[in-house]
Amino acid sequence: MRVTMVGTGYVGLVSGACFADFGHTVTCVDRDAGKIAALLAGRMPIYEPGLDALVATNVTQGRLAFTTDLAAAVAEAEAVFIAVGTPSRRGDGFADLSFVFAAAREIAAALTGDTVVVTKSTVPVGTGDEVERIIRDVNPRVRVDVASNPEFLREGAAIEDFKRPDRIVIGVEGTRAEALMREVYRPLYLNQAPILVTSRRTAELTKYAANAFLATKITFINEIADLCEQVGADVQQVARGIGLDNRIGSKFLHAGPGYGGSCFPKDTLALVKTAQDAGTPVRLVETVVAVNDQRKRAMARKVIQACGGTVRGKRIAVLGLTFKPNTDDMRDAPALSIITGLQDAGAAVVAYDPEGMEQARPLLDGVSYASDAYACAEGADALVIVTEWNAFRALDLARLGRIMAARVLIDLRNVYRPEEVARYGFAYASVGRPA
Ligand code: UGA
Repeated sequence: MRVTMVGTGYVGLVSGACFADFGHTVTCVDRDAGKIAALLAGRMPIYEPGLDALVATNVTQGRLAFTTDLAAAVAEAEAVFIAVGTPSRRGDGFADLSFVFAAAREIAAALTGDTVVVTKSTVPVGTGDEVERIIRDVNPRVRVDVASNPEFLREGAAIEDFKRPDRIVIGVEGTRAEALMREVYRPLYLNQAPILVTSRRTAELTKYAANAFLATKITFINEIADLCEQVGADVQQVARGIGLDNRIGSKFLHAGPGYGGSCFPKDTLALVKTAQDAGTPVRLVETVVAVNDQRKRAMARKVIQACGGTVRGKRIAVLGLTFKPNTDDMRDAPALSIITGLQDAGAAVVAYDPEGMEQARPLLDGVSYASDAYACAEGADALVIVTEWNAFRALDLARLGRIMAARVLIDLRNVYRPEEVARYGFAYASVGRPA
């Protein structure tokens, strides 16, 4: 099949490369000429394990192309995916759909024959209706179906998630679009991935409900972690104890500094707004949003407490800046609030992250950056692990003890065992576990 992907952001680029790898002929379009030039030269705009090799293979084999020429790419496509950004709108938190609607207008003008236009971006309920209206308005001559096909991939594991999904959700308003979408995903039948065909509005809401549920699960265990600290229980054992119940499930029960990233914060907020507008507020999700926001800042207070109540004039080393490992994404990363909180309390912060420092620089003032974990810890009064990169899981604690000014470790991802750290003479604080 001939597939065109409009938008080479995270979702568009990964989906485009994976569709090409399935054997489809894919053209990825972006209006950013610099980005397209870089992609043509084999440089990825994001860090995602395995993506550069996947792109290179499919480009070499002639199934994957990049262009700024949307009209030409759309004219020859059987399916056109919209995968442009839907950031939170400044001021009210609603999803900003201006990029989606602009893409719909441009696509409509370029359509030459029967095509299915698919929204892959995360869009509020009813967006598909509006995309359809725009296309019919701009180009009444062609027969177009508009489908919704939300994406459930995780950054850092995106290719694996795309190729071996738990499910595929397709929202359509007719059999023609359904048949075409099934054809697009036919290579996945081998993996027996369930395909759920729903109405367009149901598919749109399913995406938000999934992310809101996951955000709720994380926030739940984070609050239980705080309670564990007060009553002397261990949140990891509680999580295991509840997670073995199949109805609960063991995933997404890792307590930490609060969720971040490009999806959960934005999507939970957008769902809250949609629900308020519909007159049926989702109060549980509203609370999750508020609790998670407060948590990030609270983590700075936790560090200060572990440093004996003050960090004024102290040097605090921060390991991990990105919102999670295996990405360079700094969007809504807990590290941003934590570092600002520490600086506000008078600390000098030095940080290290394997991939995120370039993205972090414009977002953080007054932070110095180290070349590795040990250079970061050198002379520090405390070491804070904010993101659980594998490189931080087996640090040489004896060496850290020698080079730090004080042996204080705050492990916001629970990657160390308290007894192990204690052997090296560290004062240790983690999340939801007895000291
Ligand atoms: C998330 C969803 O997991 C994907 O299914 C979805 O497709 C994607 O959003 C999206 O809407 O595009 P992602 O944001 O890449 O994916 O990252 P996650 O692995 O879900 O982690 C999100 C945040 O939750 C991170 O800050 C992570 O540290 C935190 N988290 C996750 C926890 O604190 N505890 C956990 O147990 C799991």
